[in-house]
Amino acid sequence: MGENIKNTIDTIYDRRSVRKYANKQINPDLVQEILRAGMFAPSGMNKQPWHFIVFDKKETIEKVKSMHPYASSLSSAPVCIMVCGDTELEMAEGFYQVDCSAAIENMLLAANALGLDTCWMGIYPWKEVMENFSKTFELPENIKPFALVSLGYAETKQERPKRYNETKIHYNKW
Ligand SMILES: Cc1cc2nc3c(=O)[nH]c(=O)nc-3n(C[C@H](O)[C@H](O)[C@H](O)COP(=O)(O)O)c2cc1C
Repeated sequence: MGENIKNTIDTIYDRRSVRKYANKQINPDLVQEILRAGMFAPSGMNKQPWHFIVFDKKETIEKVKSMHPYASSLSSAPVCIMVCGDTELEMAEGFYQVDCSAAIENMLLAANALGLDTCWMGIYPWKEVMENFSKTFELPENIKPFALVSLGYAETKQERPKRYNETKIHYNKW
């Protein structure tokens, strides 16, 4: 770690959703660093209403993939993390979704800075998909499956898209 870490702005612009990963395992220390970055996200009243289930076994990742309609990135990902919200910890109703999103973005950026690639796959707000994950993984009532993050080394590097858009910016009035 240290000098080899990419600068923050390059990391933000370089992060891309990757759906095809090379056949290369991830050092567990890097996974831990990515989880740590998630936990450093801001959250309403610093409640940190999140939990992370790490899937690093091929059979379990296959099972997760079969439960999500848009999880093609799990065909080749060596690791998948399910981010869950805790309704007993969130500052108020509706906050765990915002807090978990902040945690996920931190994780995606940390992964990119560490040379890894990711894809965020939403579970919330699909009621049926949420219910299926809750049931299959026997989550307690207060723990809500929120999203999946696949993790791996991209097979091919993607270009930075052009996204800056002046028409989205409004000064002092709409
Ligand atoms: C809330 C959310 C849900 C997403 N769900 C999926 C998904 O189910 N499957 C998938 O392959 N990508 C998913 N994505 C990734 C988006 O498709 C991707 O971020 C978008 O196309 C922009 O591309 P980029 O991430 O490379 O900048 C999701 C992203 C977000 C933020």
